[in-house]
Amino acid sequence: HARIGASVYTSHVPAIGAAIDLGKTGNDYWAPLFKGYEPSKQWMKDHRPDVIFLVYNDHATAFSLDMIPTFAIGCAAQFNPADEGWGARPVPTVIGHPALAAHIAQSVIQQDFDLTIVNKMDVDHGLTVPLSLMCGQPEAWPCPVIPFAVNVVQYPVPSGRRCFELGRAIRRAIESYDEPLNVHIWGTGGMSHQLQGPRAGLINREFDNAFMDRLIADPAGLADVPHIDYVREAGSEGIELVMWLIARGAMADAAGGPAPRVAHRFYHVPASNTAVGHLILEEQQ
Ligand code: DHB
Ligand code: FE
Repeated sequence: HARIGASVYTSHVPAIGAAIDLGKTGNDYWAPLFKGYEPSKQWMKDHRPDVIFLVYNDHATAFSLDMIPTFAIGCAAQFNPADEGWGARPVPTVIGHPALAAHIAQSVIQQDFDLTIVNKMDVDHGLTVPLSLMCGQPEAWPCPVIPFAVNVVQYPVPSGRRCFELGRAIRRAIESYDEPLNVHIWGTGGMSHQLQGPRAGLINREFDNAFMDRLIADPAGLADVPHIDYVREAGSEGIELVMWLIARGAMADAAGGPAPRVAHRFYHVPASNTAVGHLILEEQQ
Protein backbone atom coordinates (compact mmCIF):
# COMPACT_ATOMS: atom_id res chain seq x y z
CA HIS A 1 0.00 0.00 0.00
CA ALA A 2 0.98 3.61 -0.50
CA ARG A 3 2.06 5.61 2.55
CA ILE A 4 2.85 9.19 3.47
CA GLY A 5 6.53 9.65 4.27
CA ALA A 6 6.73 13.36 5.01
CA SER A 7 5.08 16.73 4.68
CA VAL A 8 6.68 19.95 3.45
CA TYR A 9 5.44 23.51 4.02
CA THR A 10 6.67 26.58 2.16
CA SER A 11 5.68 30.02 0.93
CA HIS A 12 5.39 30.52 -2.86
CA VAL A 13 6.30 34.18 -3.63
CA PRO A 14 6.46 34.73 -7.44
CA ALA A 15 9.57 36.97 -7.14
CA ILE A 16 11.44 33.90 -5.80
CA GLY A 17 10.74 32.14 -9.10
CA ALA A 18 11.96 35.20 -11.02
CA ALA A 19 15.15 35.35 -8.90
CA ILE A 20 15.91 31.70 -9.74
CA ASP A 21 15.05 32.02 -13.42
CA LEU A 22 17.11 35.23 -13.85
CA GLY A 23 20.17 33.93 -11.94
CA LYS A 24 19.88 36.34 -8.99
CA THR A 25 19.86 33.87 -6.09
CA GLY A 26 23.36 34.90 -4.95
CA ASN A 27 22.75 38.64 -4.58
CA ASP A 28 22.55 40.42 -1.22
CA TYR A 29 18.76 40.53 -1.17
CA TRP A 30 18.13 36.89 -2.08
CA ALA A 31 21.13 34.95 -0.71
CA PRO A 32 19.82 34.68 2.90
CA LEU A 33 16.48 33.33 1.63
CA PHE A 34 18.01 30.65 -0.58
CA LYS A 35 20.47 29.65 2.14
CA GLY A 36 17.49 28.54 4.20
CA TYR A 37 16.51 26.07 1.46
CA GLU A 38 19.97 24.50 1.00
CA PRO A 39 19.23 21.81 3.65
CA SER A 40 15.86 21.23 1.97
CA LYS A 41 17.37 20.51 -1.43
CA GLN A 42 19.76 18.01 0.19
CA TRP A 43 16.85 16.51 2.14
CA MET A 44 14.91 16.04 -1.12
CA LYS A 45 17.86 14.10 -2.57
CA ASP A 46 18.10 11.94 0.57
CA HIS A 47 14.33 11.36 0.89
CA ARG A 48 13.17 11.19 -2.68
CA PRO A 49 9.40 10.64 -2.85
CA ASP A 50 7.65 8.56 -5.50
CA VAL A 51 4.85 11.13 -5.79
CA ILE A 52 4.28 14.65 -4.41
CA PHE A 53 0.69 15.60 -3.53
CA LEU A 54 1.06 19.37 -3.81
CA VAL A 55 -1.59 21.54 -2.13
CA TYR A 56 -1.41 25.07 -3.52
CA ASN A 57 -3.57 27.90 -4.76
CA ASP A 58 -4.17 29.13 -8.27
CA HIS A 59 -4.03 32.95 -8.56
CA ALA A 60 -6.73 33.60 -11.19
CA THR A 61 -4.50 31.81 -13.72
CA ALA A 62 -6.23 28.51 -14.53
CA PHE A 63 -9.43 29.63 -12.80
CA SER A 64 -11.04 33.06 -12.65
CA LEU A 65 -14.22 34.67 -11.39
CA ASP A 66 -15.93 32.59 -14.13
CA MET A 67 -15.36 29.39 -12.15
CA ILE A 68 -14.25 29.06 -8.51
CA PRO A 69 -13.74 25.47 -7.31
CA THR A 70 -13.07 25.29 -3.56
CA PHE A 71 -10.96 22.13 -3.92
CA ALA A 72 -9.71 20.92 -7.32
CA ILE A 73 -7.62 17.79 -7.95
CA GLY A 74 -5.40 17.59 -11.05
CA CYS A 75 -5.92 14.19 -12.68
CA ALA A 76 -4.11 14.91 -15.97
CA ALA A 77 -0.95 13.19 -17.25
CA GLN A 78 0.85 16.52 -17.37
CA PHE A 79 0.49 20.19 -16.46
CA ASN A 80 2.32 23.02 -18.20
CA PRO A 81 3.82 25.98 -16.31
CA ALA A 82 1.45 28.91 -16.85
CA ASP A 83 2.15 32.23 -18.54
CA GLU A 84 1.36 34.75 -15.78
CA GLY A 85 2.19 37.77 -17.92
CA TRP A 86 5.96 37.44 -18.52
CA GLY A 87 5.90 34.15 -20.44
CA ALA A 88 5.87 30.70 -18.88
CA ARG A 89 8.64 30.05 -16.32
CA PRO A 90 11.55 28.07 -17.84
CA VAL A 91 10.91 25.07 -15.59
CA PRO A 92 10.11 21.44 -16.43
CA THR A 93 6.63 20.31 -17.35
CA VAL A 94 4.87 18.85 -14.31
CA ILE A 95 4.19 15.14 -14.82
CA GLY A 96 1.03 14.01 -13.07
CA HIS A 97 -0.04 10.65 -11.64
CA PRO A 98 -3.50 10.05 -13.16
CA ALA A 99 -4.02 6.64 -11.53
CA LEU A 100 -3.30 7.78 -7.96
CA ALA A 101 -5.13 11.08 -8.51
CA ALA A 102 -8.24 9.25 -9.74
CA HIS A 103 -8.08 6.91 -6.74
CA ILE A 104 -7.80 9.85 -4.32
CA ALA A 105 -10.71 11.62 -6.05
CA GLN A 106 -12.85 8.47 -5.74
CA SER A 107 -11.94 7.91 -2.08
CA VAL A 108 -12.15 11.53 -0.89
CA ILE A 109 -15.44 12.24 -2.67
CA GLN A 110 -16.88 9.06 -1.13
CA GLN A 111 -15.70 10.44 2.25
CA ASP A 112 -18.09 13.34 1.56
CA PHE A 113 -15.66 16.05 0.40
CA ASP A 114 -16.66 17.86 -2.77
CA LEU A 115 -13.69 17.87 -5.15
CA THR A 116 -13.62 19.32 -8.64
CA ILE A 117 -11.86 17.00 -11.08
CA VAL A 118 -9.51 18.83 -13.43
CA ASN A 119 -8.23 17.06 -16.55
CA LYS A 120 -6.57 20.06 -18.22
CA MET A 121 -4.85 22.88 -16.34
CA ASP A 122 -1.76 25.10 -16.40
CA VAL A 123 -0.01 25.55 -13.03
CA ASP A 124 1.13 28.97 -11.77
CA HIS A 125 3.76 30.20 -9.27
CA GLY A 126 1.72 28.70 -6.41
CA LEU A 127 2.88 25.25 -7.57
CA THR A 128 6.12 25.86 -9.48
CA VAL A 129 7.87 28.13 -6.93
CA PRO A 130 7.70 25.51 -4.12
CA LEU A 131 9.09 22.90 -6.57
CA SER A 132 11.94 25.26 -7.51
CA LEU A 133 12.75 26.01 -3.86
CA MET A 134 12.87 22.32 -2.94
CA CYS A 135 14.45 20.92 -6.12
CA GLY A 136 16.55 23.73 -7.64
CA GLN A 137 16.79 23.78 -11.44
CA PRO A 138 16.71 20.14 -12.61
CA GLU A 139 16.09 18.96 -16.19
CA ALA A 140 12.95 17.22 -14.92
CA TRP A 141 11.15 17.32 -11.56
CA PRO A 142 12.23 14.35 -9.41
CA CYS A 143 8.84 12.58 -9.47
CA PRO A 144 5.21 12.88 -10.57
CA VAL A 145 3.18 15.63 -8.88
CA ILE A 146 -0.57 15.71 -8.18
CA PRO A 147 -1.68 19.36 -8.11
CA PHE A 148 -4.42 20.09 -5.57
CA ALA A 149 -5.76 23.64 -5.90
CA VAL A 150 -7.60 25.36 -3.03
CA ASN A 151 -9.62 28.55 -3.37
CA VAL A 152 -8.07 31.08 -0.98
CA VAL A 153 -8.41 33.96 -3.43
CA GLN A 154 -12.13 34.70 -3.66
CA TYR A 155 -14.46 34.61 -0.65
CA PRO A 156 -15.92 32.41 0.70
CA VAL A 157 -12.78 30.35 1.41
CA PRO A 158 -12.71 27.01 3.26
CA SER A 159 -12.11 27.00 7.01
CA GLY A 160 -8.97 25.68 8.67
CA ARG A 161 -11.08 22.94 10.25
CA ARG A 162 -12.37 21.77 6.86
CA CYS A 163 -8.83 21.79 5.47
CA PHE A 164 -7.52 19.73 8.39
CA GLU A 165 -10.35 17.18 8.03
CA LEU A 166 -9.72 17.02 4.29
CA GLY A 167 -6.08 16.18 5.01
CA ARG A 168 -7.22 13.29 7.18
CA ALA A 169 -9.42 12.02 4.32
CA ILE A 170 -6.51 12.35 1.85
CA ARG A 171 -4.36 10.21 4.17
CA ARG A 172 -7.01 7.47 4.21
CA ALA A 173 -7.23 7.68 0.42
CA ILE A 174 -3.46 7.37 -0.07
CA GLU A 175 -3.19 4.49 2.41
CA SER A 176 -5.84 2.55 0.49
CA TYR A 177 -3.94 2.76 -2.82
CA ASP A 178 -2.65 -0.67 -3.74
CA GLU A 179 0.93 0.14 -4.74
CA PRO A 180 3.95 0.67 -2.43
CA LEU A 181 4.43 4.38 -3.12
CA ASN A 182 6.15 6.86 -0.79
CA VAL A 183 4.00 9.98 -1.08
CA HIS A 184 5.00 13.40 0.26
CA ILE A 185 2.27 15.95 0.86
CA TRP A 186 3.10 19.65 0.58
CA GLY A 187 1.14 22.57 2.03
CA THR A 188 2.14 25.85 0.42
CA GLY A 189 1.41 29.60 0.40
CA GLY A 190 1.59 32.16 3.22
CA MET A 191 2.98 33.33 5.52
CA SER A 192 1.76 36.80 6.55
CA HIS A 193 1.30 39.17 3.62
CA GLN A 194 -1.17 41.65 2.24
CA LEU A 195 -0.78 42.90 -1.32
CA GLN A 196 -3.50 45.52 -1.45
CA GLY A 197 -5.27 48.34 0.37
CA PRO A 198 -4.15 50.51 3.27
CA ARG A 199 -2.42 47.60 5.05
CA ALA A 200 -0.37 46.51 1.99
CA GLY A 201 3.05 45.29 3.11
CA LEU A 202 1.79 43.90 6.42
CA ILE A 203 4.11 41.30 8.01
CA ASN A 204 3.47 39.67 11.42
CA ARG A 205 6.49 37.70 12.67
CA GLU A 206 4.85 36.87 15.98
CA PHE A 207 1.76 35.36 14.34
CA ASP A 208 3.84 33.44 11.78
CA ASN A 209 6.16 31.86 14.34
CA ALA A 210 3.29 31.00 16.66
CA PHE A 211 1.52 29.42 13.65
CA MET A 212 4.55 27.21 12.94
CA ASP A 213 4.89 26.27 16.64
CA ARG A 214 1.26 25.25 16.75
CA LEU A 215 1.29 23.53 13.37
CA ILE A 216 3.99 21.25 14.80
CA ALA A 217 2.60 20.70 18.31
CA ASP A 218 -1.16 21.36 18.21
CA PRO A 219 -2.50 21.16 14.65
CA ALA A 220 -6.02 20.10 15.70
CA GLY A 221 -6.27 23.16 17.95
CA LEU A 222 -4.81 25.41 15.25
CA ALA A 223 -7.51 24.14 12.87
CA ASP A 224 -10.11 25.91 15.03
CA VAL A 225 -8.71 29.39 14.27
CA PRO A 226 -11.41 31.19 12.24
CA HIS A 227 -10.55 32.70 8.85
CA ILE A 228 -11.13 36.25 10.11
CA ASP A 229 -8.19 35.85 12.52
CA TYR A 230 -5.87 35.01 9.59
CA VAL A 231 -7.01 38.09 7.72
CA ARG A 232 -6.71 40.34 10.75
CA GLU A 233 -3.35 39.00 11.96
CA ALA A 234 -1.63 37.78 8.79
CA GLY A 235 -3.16 40.06 6.13
CA SER A 236 -5.65 39.37 3.35
CA GLU A 237 -3.24 36.94 1.60
CA GLY A 238 -2.23 35.34 4.91
CA ILE A 239 -5.34 33.19 4.50
CA GLU A 240 -3.21 31.06 2.14
CA LEU A 241 -1.94 29.43 5.35
CA VAL A 242 -5.09 27.28 5.70
CA MET A 243 -3.55 25.11 2.97
CA TRP A 244 -0.80 24.07 5.41
CA LEU A 245 -3.51 22.42 7.52
CA ILE A 246 -4.42 20.05 4.67
CA ALA A 247 -0.90 18.66 4.59
CA ARG A 248 -0.71 18.59 8.39
CA GLY A 249 -4.03 16.71 8.66
CA ALA A 250 -2.55 13.98 6.46
CA MET A 251 0.20 13.14 8.99
CA ALA A 252 0.01 10.06 11.22
CA ASP A 253 -0.73 11.87 14.50
CA ALA A 254 -3.96 13.28 13.06
CA ALA A 255 -5.05 9.64 12.74
CA GLY A 256 -3.93 8.64 16.26
CA GLY A 257 -0.34 7.74 15.32
CA PRO A 258 3.01 9.14 16.46
CA ALA A 259 3.88 12.84 16.08
CA PRO A 260 6.20 13.73 13.18
CA ARG A 261 9.86 14.75 13.54
CA VAL A 262 10.86 18.30 12.60
CA ALA A 263 13.60 17.81 9.99
CA HIS A 264 13.97 21.51 9.09
CA ARG A 265 12.50 24.87 10.04
CA PHE A 266 13.20 28.28 8.48
CA TYR A 267 11.71 31.77 8.58
CA HIS A 268 12.80 34.84 6.64
CA VAL A 269 11.50 38.36 6.03
CA PRO A 270 11.14 39.80 3.47
CA ALA A 271 10.72 38.18 0.08
CA SER A 272 8.90 40.68 -2.09
CA ASN A 273 5.89 41.57 0.11
CA THR A 274 5.79 38.29 1.99
CA ALA A 275 7.14 36.58 5.09
CA VAL A 276 8.61 33.23 4.05
CA GLY A 277 8.08 30.22 6.30
CA HIS A 278 9.26 26.67 5.70
CA LEU A 279 8.98 23.36 7.56
CA ILE A 280 9.80 19.74 6.79
CA LEU A 281 8.06 17.12 8.96
CA GLU A 282 9.03 13.45 8.68
CA GLU A 283 6.80 10.60 9.75
CA GLN A 284 8.29 8.46 12.54
CA GLN A 285 8.44 4.92 11.18
C1 DHB B 1 3.35 37.97 -3.62
C2 DHB B 1 3.00 36.92 -2.77
C3 DHB B 1 2.06 35.98 -3.17
O1 DHB B 1 1.62 34.94 -2.40
C4 DHB B 1 1.50 36.07 -4.42
O2 DHB B 1 0.65 35.10 -4.80
C5 DHB B 1 1.82 37.11 -5.27
C6 DHB B 1 2.76 38.07 -4.86
C7 DHB B 1 4.38 38.98 -3.22
O3 DHB B 1 4.84 38.98 -2.07
O4 DHB B 1 4.78 39.80 -4.06
FE1 FE C 1 -0.02 33.73 -3.37
